[in-house]
Amino acid sequence: MNVRNDFPMLKQNIIYFDNGATTFKPYSVINAIVDYYSNYTANAHRGDYDNSLKVDEKYEGTRENVCQFINASNTKEIIFTSGATDSLNMIVNGFFKYNLKSGDEILITRSEHASLVLPWFELAEQLGCIIKYINLNEDLKVTMDNVKASVTNKTKVIALAHTTNVVGDIRPIKAITQYAHQQGIYVVVDGAQSVPHIKVDVQDLDVDFLTFSGHKMLGPTGIGVLYGKEFLLKKLKPHNVGGGMNVDFTSLKEFSYRELPHRLEAGTPNIAGVIGLGAAIDYINKVGIDNITKHEQMLKQYAVQKLNSLPNIEVYNPNTKAGIIAFNVKGVFSQDTAVYLNKYNVCVRAGNHCAKMLSEDINVSSTCRISFYLYNTTEEIDYLVSLLDNKDILRESL
Ligand code: ALA
Repeated sequence: MNVRNDFPMLKQNIIYFDNGATTFKPYSVINAIVDYYSNYTANAHRGDYDNSLKVDEKYEGTRENVCQFINASNTKEIIFTSGATDSLNMIVNGFFKYNLKSGDEILITRSEHASLVLPWFELAEQLGCIIKYINLNEDLKVTMDNVKASVTNKTKVIALAHTTNVVGDIRPIKAITQYAHQQGIYVVVDGAQSVPHIKVDVQDLDVDFLTFSGHKMLGPTGIGVLYGKEFLLKKLKPHNVGGGMNVDFTSLKEFSYRELPHRLEAGTPNIAGVIGLGAAIDYINKVGIDNITKHEQMLKQYAVQKLNSLPNIEVYNPNTKAGIIAFNVKGVFSQDTAVYLNKYNVCVRAGNHCAKMLSEDINVSSTCRISFYLYNTTEEIDYLVSLLDNKDILRESL
């Protein structure tokens, strides 16, 4: 993919395989942010002068951009947040807190990321709900049979990642929502690892809520999206109240709030973040999300084949589709491998990757993770493999 010159970070002598954690930013994103701060700084939705009107146009333009990108039915369904974690906490504490009761069951899996687990644990403790786990199959995937086997007449919500951040399996969300909705069960999906990499169409998937972060899709940190069906978002109580989201308030404590989406965006928003996210989506659209998917899946297959040819490497997720590989060098602690690779300017993540319950299914407490994006190449994989094919790795890493 002919994109590498668009990324200033790639001018450094490093190989970056940690895109599941965050991605590099193209010049167009960086320039859009610099342009806002250098040439038309103003607050949003508050001024009647040219620069403020330009900010409104850019800010709401990004909302339109996001709406089209995930095919939401209208812009009221797109709420800007600080990231997927913020979005998930808003859903759990603003909607489900008022719609679940003691004894209701919440279905998740053991391969979920902390941001999708802990808000539900807190809520379950507060309300007396029960957390249940959908079993993973031998490839660490979620199957419809396992979903159906976990649902009872007490199940009220299924919450899961679209693509998991360690296993890299792409869940059958459309089939899950079809089945769940027949039983009156809500479906909450974290798209942090899917929206940047595959076409996500919220109407086709029929998800009730979807969350994602800008920084994992070429955008800045501190900006994310909460998508919800309009009739559900209307019932979501704002966790922040203040400026920008009210219509009026009086000394008699009479107050009223604005309509969606502004009702859920109190305070001065992350304007530069929104503008940067808009530029990131423009960039992805220019390259083509389907081209990005194909490129990453090619890299995944190529890397799995090469890594599997090394007798000292164990790959834990060879049969999943997303461009994420969890592996270990046999007999070497994952962090030692990461430190060894760092000596050669190769960036990978080591540890449990915030998916701390997954170890119960894969029987290892920590792995190295490679996660690809559009700028990675087969030559970079060849270099990684040559480093891992080093018989002295154990000695070097200690
Ligand atoms: N969720 C991020 C990751 O997988 C931080 O690395």
